[in-house]
Amino acid sequence: MSQSKEAAGRRAAEFIEDGMTVGLGTGSTVYFTLVALAERIAKENLAIRGVPTSIDTEVKARDMGIPLVALADVAQIDVTIDGADEIDGEFQMIKGGGGALLREKVVASLSTREVIVVHPSKVVERLGEGFLLPVEVVPFARPVVVHHLKQLGGTASIRMRSEKEPFLTDNGNEILDCRFDGGIPNARELDRTLNGIPGVVENGLFVGLAHVLVIGHEDGSAEVRERG
Ligand code: 5RP
Repeated sequence: MSQSKEAAGRRAAEFIEDGMTVGLGTGSTVYFTLVALAERIAKENLAIRGVPTSIDTEVKARDMGIPLVALADVAQIDVTIDGADEIDGEFQMIKGGGGALLREKVVASLSTREVIVVHPSKVVERLGEGFLLPVEVVPFARPVVVHHLKQLGGTASIRMRSEKEPFLTDNGNEILDCRFDGGIPNARELDRTLNGIPGVVENGLFVGLAHVLVIGHEDGSAEVRERG
């Protein structure tokens, strides 16, 4: 597993060029992009500025010596490298396994090119059959959102950090992990519907945001696919 993640993460770092503003995704696959990027900065004297999508990535990037910039000081991002929990043939994705979906989606929306790095198991026919869809909610509104999700045919469970405490995102919100029996036939429509529910901050469906997919393999090779 980690061989394939490293292969994908390192291959994606090759999309980064001198002078670029770079979105830095979150997760165990992107970790290897950070490692490769830090190596390139040291070896090639590459001048980039990174925009982290989570506090976790911010800390890791800073420790590795990757220069960072605040989102507020950036008008556009040249390339973002991020992971995914599921991605289909149209490059629609479920993200948010690590809880960073909101910042990841904001950064993706500003990115000219979004490169997704995955293990082969993340490539699926239909979203939502295997992985639960994360929905970030304002804690106050959680019961109302659960009720709306039920009406949409979803079953929601609150993501927990411990037996008693809900997991909180970097933005101080909670996550509902949602199952839709039979998966998600129309991701674009569900994305709009979910974000129309009062109390929902963002959901983990990423539609039309990914441009390039890098799939890493256990033999250390990486396959690059462009969105058709
Ligand atoms: C975090 C995410 C991650 O990109 C996603 O969970 C993939 O992570 P990993 O590369 O560790 O499997 O969306 O919110």
